[in-house]
Amino acid sequence: MMALKQSYSRRPALLHLVFAASIFSLFVFAAIRSSFSFRGKLLFTDTNSLDLRILSDFQSNVQQCVANRGLGLTAQIIDHCNLILKFPQGTNSTWFNEQFKIFEPLEYKYDVCEAILLWEQYRNMTTVLTREYLDARPDGWLDYAPKRIAQLGADKCYNRTLCEEHLNVLLPAKPPFHPRQFQTCAVVGNSGDLLKTEFGEEIDGHDAVIRDNEAPVNEKYAKYVGLKRDFRLVVRGAARNMIPILNGSDDEVLIIKSLTHRDFNTMIKRIPNPVYLFQGIVLRRGAKGTGMKSIELALSMCDIVDIYGFTVDPGYTEWTRYFSTPRKGHNPLQGRAYYQLLECLGVIRIHSPMRAERKQDWSDIPSRETISRAHSAVVRLKKNEAGEDSDLGQFRNCKVWGQSGPYGSGPVSGSPDMSDVRKKSSYSKWEVMPFEKLSETARDQFSQMEGVSLYKMDGNKLDDLVCVRHSLKSQV
Ligand SMILES: *[C@@H]1O[C@H](CO)[C@@H](O)[C@H](O)[C@H]1NC(C)=O
Ligand SMILES: *[C@@H]1O[C@H](CO)[C@@H](O)[C@H](O)[C@H]1NC(C)=O
Ligand SMILES: *[C@@H]1O[C@H](CO)[C@@H](O)[C@H](O)[C@H]1NC(C)=O
Ligand SMILES: *[C@@H]1O[C@H](CO)[C@@H](O)[C@H](O)[C@H]1NC(C)=O
Repeated sequence: MMALKQSYSRRPALLHLVFAASIFSLFVFAAIRSSFSFRGKLLFTDTNSLDLRILSDFQSNVQQCVANRGLGLTAQIIDHCNLILKFPQGTNSTWFNEQFKIFEPLEYKYDVCEAILLWEQYRNMTTVLTREYLDARPDGWLDYAPKRIAQLGADKCYNRTLCEEHLNVLLPAKPPFHPRQFQTCAVVGNSGDLLKTEFGEEIDGHDAVIRDNEAPVNEKYAKYVGLKRDFRLVVRGAARNMIPILNGSDDEVLIIKSLTHRDFNTMIKRIPNPVYLFQGIVLRRGAKGTGMKSIELALSMCDIVDIYGFTVDPGYTEWTRYFSTPRKGHNPLQGRAYYQLLECLGVIRIHSPMRAERKQDWSDIPSRETISRAHSAVVRLKKNEAGEDSDLGQFRNCKVWGQSGPYGSGPVSGSPDMSDVRKKSSYSKWEVMPFEKLSETARDQFSQMEGVSLYKMDGNKLDDLVCVRHSLKSQV
């Protein structure tokens, strides 16, 4: 511990070293890949210590960032991967967990290496359930599809027609949205905090705005939450009441977080909005709930993710909402700590009343370059731990492969008994968008990924992906 601490105070020298070392590592790596195993093993030890140093340096960046931005939070480094975020002594922990009969703890331990792997992966991920995903998984229709349908009356889709009847209306053939499709996105939570600032215009200035559940968007709240409406992530309970909420907002994309239900189809057939099912796993740690899913969704489409209206400032013990009276809160401290970690890992940028003044200064957040260097270091370390020789690059986690036609082709989601309002819907705006109309960064990403869409397998395994390759026909 002491030794680590000392090396942090020698950072400038260390930086030079790391820089020189990372260049050296390129050579080492080239050497390893073309060498026999005994020689490879020796050299791996060198790269290991190099990667450890890259990560230790990254950890001290994170520590500094938490000190600067955490409003009292501090980070204690344990090793090159692990750190503990601590709230100051005397923090009022009033949220009582009925289940475990304890107050919320004031310390949270995180594995930064895992967090980098997870959140960097989201930048290349598809988070909308598609037909190609169900087709690609061997158990896709039989086992996975029924998990997404409530009250199906069977635990497997022995009768695929029956399951298709539930899913057709919200199942696009291919991913309707693409990694890095938007440059900036605002994710707007529902916290009562929003009434303390006037972020409305700033929120509307983003390329896409993602909102939660039944959040009202109207003149009354415009100066606080803006008026732009692009995406709305809803849980099953809220999905029932969408008709009055979506009234007049035909293009707003509805994404159902959990399960669909026969009743939804009746509702969906009455509205012109695109409706999809979220495709993603339950996170293993950190804050849960719609908020975290909104960030996953945003990260799978956007370069920069700004969050508003998440309760992230000290002093809140209740779960407030900008449009209704406070409700019983849940895990405010755990949430705050995890959001702060995510900001210092370059995943999100936090906007809140107590941070309103410094919103333009992001200089203490690690750059994309720094993050991607740390990411590579983690990948190499993991690979060495597992004793793997092969390097499959960005497809190393693909467990299942599928094949699909080019984007912007194939059927638009719908069902045979589609109402007129639905036939004239705005689905096609996304689902048959020609590849050439995508932003340049999205097209670059597509070619770097060789036209492959990545999806999470469900379940808790961090690394398993379903990968679908799209033919390049008419796209180059
Ligand atoms: C802690 O919070 C509770 C409930 O909000 C409040 O009644 C109490 O006075 C607070 N204590 C301190 C020391 O701030
Ligand atoms: C399968 O489901 C469809 C639609 O509900 C139904 O018409 C058909 O009879 C079912 N087939 C079998 C073999 O049960
Ligand atoms: C939708 O809004 C219009 C006015 O903008 C109103 O006349 C109509 O009743 C609303 N419909 C629903 C279902 O709320
Ligand atoms: C994400 O995609 C980029 C190409 O845009 C690629 O260079 C990078 O390796 C990918 N990262 C992960 C974690 O898959």
